[in-house]
Amino acid sequence: MGKLNKIQAEYIQHTFAELDDSLKELISKAKEATLHAYAPYSNFKVGAAVLLDDGSIHIGSNQENAAFPSGLCAERVLLNYVHSNYPNLKPLAMAITAQNSDGFTQEPVTPCGACLQVMGELEKSWDIELPVFLSGEMGIIEVKGIHNFLPFFFNGTLLK
Ligand code: THU
Repeated sequence: MGKLNKIQAEYIQHTFAELDDSLKELISKAKEATLHAYAPYSNFKVGAAVLLDDGSIHIGSNQENAAFPSGLCAERVLLNYVHSNYPNLKPLAMAITAQNSDGFTQEPVTPCGACLQVMGELEKSWDIELPVFLSGEMGIIEVKGIHNFLPFFFNGTLLK
């Protein structure tokens, strides 16, 4: 019993070749960021890059810790960094990529729930839907807006 409701999510599949030059550069920077990952425990090196509205690109990578929960994903390293250091520059797009012991992953890497929550807060603070390019060697997936990732994102409206 009860009323069944459905939520649809949308994403766009791209090939690297069809992306415009600024997105190709953003993905290249995310790949470059994997070189700065500190991942001695998982050996999974994640890189993220964000384009801000002054044209600047900033990068972040996962930073692990011997006390495992103290480590942080690339996306949260990056998004909290830009939000605190460039609070007046609007994010226009983000790219995420990762390498394991075989090199860059074939499939696109998808952000964890905690990173999505942070991404959603950034979108809310800017009133934007951020296009996020999940890069894999087989292809690229573009997801725009937190509602397409995490429809039940905790948006804080109940906080009083
Ligand atoms: N990781 C990220 O940095 N981003 C993701 O989207 C998924 C996971 C990191 C966390 C940890 O350092 C390693 O990848 C393995 O989970």
